[in-house]
Amino acid sequence: MCGIIGYVGKHEAEPVLIRGLKRLEYRGYDSAGVAVLGDKLFIRKKPGKIENLEKLLKGQPVSGSIGIGHTRWATHGEPSEKNAHPHTAMSGKIAVVHNGIIENYADLKKELQSRGKVFASDTDTEVVAHLIEDISETEQVPLEEAVRKALGKVVGAYAILAISSDEPDKVVAAKLGSPMVIGLGEEDEHYIASDGAAIVEYTRDVVYLKDNEMAIIPKTGKMVVKTMQNEIAFPEIQTLELSLEALEKKGYAHFMLKEIHEQPQSVQDSMRGRIDPGKGTVKLGGILDFEKKLENAERIIFVSCGTSWHAGLVGDYLFETFARIPAKAEYASEFRYKNPVLGENDVVIAISQSGETADTLSAVKLAKSKGATVLGICNVVGSTLSRETDGGSYTHAGVEIGVASTKAFTAQVSVLAMMALRIGSLKGTLSESRLQELIVELNTIPEKIAAVLEKEGQIQSIAQKYFQATDALFLGRRYGFPVALEGALKLKEISYIHAEGYPAGEMKHGPIALIEEGVPVFAVATKNEHIEKMAANLQEIKARRGSVIAVVTEGDERLKGVSDHLIEIPETEDAFSPLLSVIPLQLLAYHVAVLRGANVDQPRNLAKSVTVE
Ligand code: M6R
Repeated sequence: MCGIIGYVGKHEAEPVLIRGLKRLEYRGYDSAGVAVLGDKLFIRKKPGKIENLEKLLKGQPVSGSIGIGHTRWATHGEPSEKNAHPHTAMSGKIAVVHNGIIENYADLKKELQSRGKVFASDTDTEVVAHLIEDISETEQVPLEEAVRKALGKVVGAYAILAISSDEPDKVVAAKLGSPMVIGLGEEDEHYIASDGAAIVEYTRDVVYLKDNEMAIIPKTGKMVVKTMQNEIAFPEIQTLELSLEALEKKGYAHFMLKEIHEQPQSVQDSMRGRIDPGKGTVKLGGILDFEKKLENAERIIFVSCGTSWHAGLVGDYLFETFARIPAKAEYASEFRYKNPVLGENDVVIAISQSGETADTLSAVKLAKSKGATVLGICNVVGSTLSRETDGGSYTHAGVEIGVASTKAFTAQVSVLAMMALRIGSLKGTLSESRLQELIVELNTIPEKIAAVLEKEGQIQSIAQKYFQATDALFLGRRYGFPVALEGALKLKEISYIHAEGYPAGEMKHGPIALIEEGVPVFAVATKNEHIEKMAANLQEIKARRGSVIAVVTEGDERLKGVSDHLIEIPETEDAFSPLLSVIPLQLLAYHVAVLRGANVDQPRNLAKSVTVE
């Protein structure tokens, strides 16, 4: 949610800022801007995509070897030029970019206005620029001190970069709650970004700034990291584990399509070294120290948002099925407000692709404060979630850039499946022979996903038939229910068709009123003991002239008479069926969105990682 980039070195800053912003565009694309320090402070900004900013820079070039940039996901104030970052104050000497939210901005703004400060935007960020300027002027302190004092007045979350034409030899960076990584290049060059993807082409030596730390990054010499109390900190230099290749589309029209097709590999990678089908064993290094806790847990609570919440719901079923531990999937954004009853015998598992989702991180903080053991399932190595949890497992799905999450979901589900099997076997709720059977089956999932991907042609023609629909329903029972929710989310977020996911049994309690001629109903109806009930639900839809598209198990003809289209997928254990049944729904959403001319990788109003609450 908003991406920031900075460069300090000997070369022109602008190309580095623009390339970095393009890599960060998935975090928001409402507007973009740069501020560059050369013989003066140049500011250029434009609403919309980075290409608009690039065009502007062609006509109005900037020059200088220190610069900051920003790509915005609007929170305070509509997407417009005046609300685009960088923000300046009245003298025009200070420029600030910010990712996060200043919660007390209204009070700060009122106070600054009462002292004659005139605001040019509706953003929360602008108060920071005015505060820095005000403190510099009234207290005659250098930029570093002014930033420290300004942030001392701020309540909220931020990753901030500030420059001043009075001190044209440095960038001051500070962080609380929002991510920031600083890359150490050659010849004392420094690259600063919200995400390693923006700087990996220049360096792999990085420092992750911690909360309540500041970095003073000079044009010549080494950067200095300090705490907000002005004490020197000694950050660890880490290696950025990211391949540049992973950041390219590799011939696919969109990142989302590439990521859908990567799933045989990403699921394989999520299981690599963790299962041994020959021996029938499963082990996850990151939870070894917490196995006793999990085994004896009174409850397991999953906290997450969006697609990761759907994975949590699958986790809920998996843990209850295999480990017989009461489990619950909670929306992170609600969990924190319900004053949850939690104790040291509970294990909270936070699930997040990015590891930066603000609601999930707040839920983690709350769970820790109540004494629960908190584990994470996360894709981004080194993310805040991975640092804030007691332990956990990476999903190893590889970089996910498409805003609509796909391969992250299947990798999360496979990690959850492995965890549930491991704990079930330790608890003895799963026999050795059954465990072996399940592990052998889990090992076949990547090739079965590849077989589902072969159905893309059929799914494309179904998309062709229904892409003009205004509403769609997704139904499923048991493991099919979270997949129905995920199918509906995928369709609505990238094609803007109104879509709802329901447990199939709930149909008759209300949603059936929506069914009329031609309304497409997508049924996740793979083989299990509830299939007859599912058939009855679909009958009810057909009786009301709805159109039924059912995802079924190969060779299972029971839904033939009640479906307009059957998408057959390979047979698997019911518990692993989400790993296969979600694929046709991802492809369907993708092709519908393409047919509707929507921007698949950058759907309107969304951003890849939601770092505001
Ligand atoms: O990075 P996270 O997994 O924590 O993100 C959670 C949600 O914001 C995310 O899954 C979102 O719902 C996606 N756009 C879904 O495709």
